[in-house]
Amino acid sequence: MEKYIINGGNKLYGGVKIQTAKNSVLPILAAAVLTDEKVRILNAPHITDVKNMVKILNCLGCKSVYEGDDIIIDSSSADCFEIPRALAHELRSSVFLLGPLTARFGKAKIAYPGGCDIGLRPVDLHLSGLKRLGVKIRENNGYIECECDKLVGNEIMLDCPSVGATENIMLAAVKAEGETVIKNAAREPEIEDLQKFLNCAGCKVRGAGSGTIVVEGVKKISGVTFQPMADRIEAGTFLIAAAMCGGEITALGASGENISSLLHKLRENGCKIYAKNDKIILKREGGLVSVKSIETQPYPGFPTDLQAQMTALCCICRGQSIVTENLFETRFKYAPELRKMGADITVVDRNAFVRGCEKFNGATIVACDLRGGAALVLAALAAEGKSEVLDISHIDRGYGMFEYKLRALGADIVRVAV
Ligand code: EPZ
Repeated sequence: MEKYIINGGNKLYGGVKIQTAKNSVLPILAAAVLTDEKVRILNAPHITDVKNMVKILNCLGCKSVYEGDDIIIDSSSADCFEIPRALAHELRSSVFLLGPLTARFGKAKIAYPGGCDIGLRPVDLHLSGLKRLGVKIRENNGYIECECDKLVGNEIMLDCPSVGATENIMLAAVKAEGETVIKNAAREPEIEDLQKFLNCAGCKVRGAGSGTIVVEGVKKISGVTFQPMADRIEAGTFLIAAAMCGGEITALGASGENISSLLHKLRENGCKIYAKNDKIILKREGGLVSVKSIETQPYPGFPTDLQAQMTALCCICRGQSIVTENLFETRFKYAPELRKMGADITVVDRNAFVRGCEKFNGATIVACDLRGGAALVLAALAAEGKSEVLDISHIDRGYGMFEYKLRALGADIVRVAV
């Protein structure tokens, strides 16, 4: 077990190189099962979720190795279609393998996925989509079992624009006979990145980002070397950190376009923001002004993965805010921890009512999930006095070199064994 010890109050200055996107690399790792040629993912982030996904691929018989920051996956010797409970439970994206394993082996058997405890996280849309492609599905004893002799393209309408369901269906449809149309598909930039990867590997996918994705099944999928997009959620997290602490930082490698809903809110908070090509500069000098409301929505709405960090910022703005979490049922678990630091935050169902206070006071706080944990670190950085953030393994799932990057910006943060 490890914790962060943070002495708050330092302003943040300088540049931070944004990592390759966790939520792009994970579905691409799943897609690597579709080809028996080598796939090289460039500059993969050093985070636990990616390491666990690589472990899962290797337990399927793939040979995945790190070469510097790159991951090379050779699935030619993949011979297993079953993911045991222990591994599947480590992360949500294990479920993304249902599609590609069924496409490759005609079978898949995966225990219900784990991941952040932020809500019910059903997989019904994944399963109903695969069924539309001809997959027979059984669920028993905590496992999802898929079977299909031949995938056949079809039209699929998603009840809600699920990111994972969209990706899972895409990863089966590329090997289906004929055309598949996915309607009400998720529009996140990571879906466009997956489409780009698949087309580099010889697939025929179009429409990602538009809400309707058309996939033409192909016989052969080739190996490919690919640089996934930058992590827009990591970029947003650093920008919110600078807004909370004051100072001026540049997020390098990330596109402002992918988090325009966040930038709009931060400007309302009183930050000066300049975003061009793959650089976002944020400067905060004066006081923070609260925004009336923040509502998480599927892309291009405000990202749920920045909700916790933005709520922490609201706690030290002048005025009141209401934060509504529309995607996940229990994504405010960090609120009691912020209250230990002096925050005035009341959670009722999917709403957090925040009354801004002057500042946070340092405290000992416990991370309970990935983004909630990141929000606690940001609160501690902006707080007066010393804080300890416990259970930081949650944060390691999605932020590589987090304390190193923050220290390089002037934060006083160290990781120590508990
Ligand atoms: C992906 O999770 C991301 N994870 C999440 O990021 C992100 O919060 C989420 O998309 C939304 O943007 C990865 O990409 C690995 P969803 P996913 O399916 O696919 C409902 C992080 O912090 N739903 O888009 O699990 C569901 O209940 C993580 O990096 C169904 O009803 O999210 C939720 O209300 C956390 N049935 C909504 O859709 C289903 O079959 C959005 O979930 C699937 C989802």
